Amino acid sequence: MVHKLNGSYPVGVARFIIDENDQVLTGTVLNEPTSALGDSAVELVYSALNFKDALVFASPSRVRRAPRLTGGIEGVGIIRRHPSLPAGTPVIIWGGGIGTSVDGCFADEIVCDHSYLTPLACSLDNLDIAMAYGIAGFTAMASIDALLQHGVQPGDGEVLVTGASGGVGSLAVTLLARIGFHVVAASGSPEHSHWLREQGATRCIGRDEISNRAERVLGEPLWAGAVDCVGGDTLHAILRSLRYGGAVAASGLVAGSELHTTVYPFITRNVALLGIDAVETPPERRLDIWNRLCDLMVPDDRRLIDRIVALDDLPDALADLRHGRSRGRILVRPR
Ligand SMILES: NC(=O)c1ccc[n+]([C@@H]2O[C@H](COP(=O)([O-])OP(=O)(O)OC[C@H]3O[C@@H](n4cnc5c(N)ncnc54)[C@H](OP(=O)(O)O)[C@@H]3O)[C@@H](O)[C@H]2O)c1
Repeated sequence: MVHKLNGSYPVGVARFIIDENDQVLTGTVLNEPTSALGDSAVELVYSALNFKDALVFASPSRVRRAPRLTGGIEGVGIIRRHPSLPAGTPVIIWGGGIGTSVDGCFADEIVCDHSYLTPLACSLDNLDIAMAYGIAGFTAMASIDALLQHGVQPGDGEVLVTGASGGVGSLAVTLLARIGFHVVAASGSPEHSHWLREQGATRCIGRDEISNRAERVLGEPLWAGAVDCVGGDTLHAILRSLRYGGAVAASGLVAGSELHTTVYPFITRNVALLGIDAVETPPERRLDIWNRLCDLMVPDDRRLIDRIVALDDLPDALADLRHGRSRGRILVRPR
């Protein structure tokens, strides 16, 4: 299902904009007429920086789809106006081209269609944690939910997570462990092994160790399930190493977008390849996934946050993100 989002702002809202000349307007209060109005208004409490934001603010940008745009592909805030939710309800917003083709969440307030707002079952005090999870946390939880719905249960055996030190992977490790799974974290960064164990991994393996019995059509059946953030040959290696009836939830493509495999894992081991999309997820499923995430949140999740910056500090923060100088999430507090 494809949704259309009309993101926009009321007059006089602080925003972080890139204009048609690739000039960045930092934290400016602009008195501009709104370009498109939705049926809902949200006071934004936090946004968060993602690599995609750095690409939007690059000059020239291959990602930005509008000549003049407020950045910010995700945010959390409080309902001011909505067709059915009461004012004060905490919500999260992302997807539908927000922050890339329509105005995004680096702002005090956003006006948009209600279909892009997912109510959060957490207290206002925990909005920073919800934002720290953000799209990556949602993708991790949606992957785990897909495995659970397929029938993979804690106790069935080890569950593999690839790209484990990345945003989606590390949160998948944390959440799987919290649910009670035995998690094997596969990473190309051995220096992160200790940290991955702290996140809940039972054991850590190298990226290259996923391929087993490469000379045979099928590998040894190792994994009850897998969360794959990597794609390419890694996904092929996982498929041929799943146990009978196992499943892999695939969301990423950092190792490649092509998949060369055989039908053997599917027709002899009855395995499943479950596709995960976090962008066009229908509203009911967004709500379900976020309810589960809110249930699993703990105060210690604030360790996910590197720092919280103001709109004025965004140019430096985007540069840090571009150059890999941050460890964890950079949140933006527009007010
Ligand atoms: N489907 C969706 O809706 C959705 C939503 C969010 C993200 N994604 C996708 O999911 C993937 C992961 O996103 P992310 O935010 O977690 O990214 P990220 O923070 O950059 O993490 C990616 C991780 O993958 C591993 N990696 C990097 N290059 C690799 C390579 N060439 N071969 C094998 N592993 C490699 C690294 O982990 P190690 O060093 O631990 O190996 C890295 O930390 C991306 O492809 C992203 O586009 C999809």
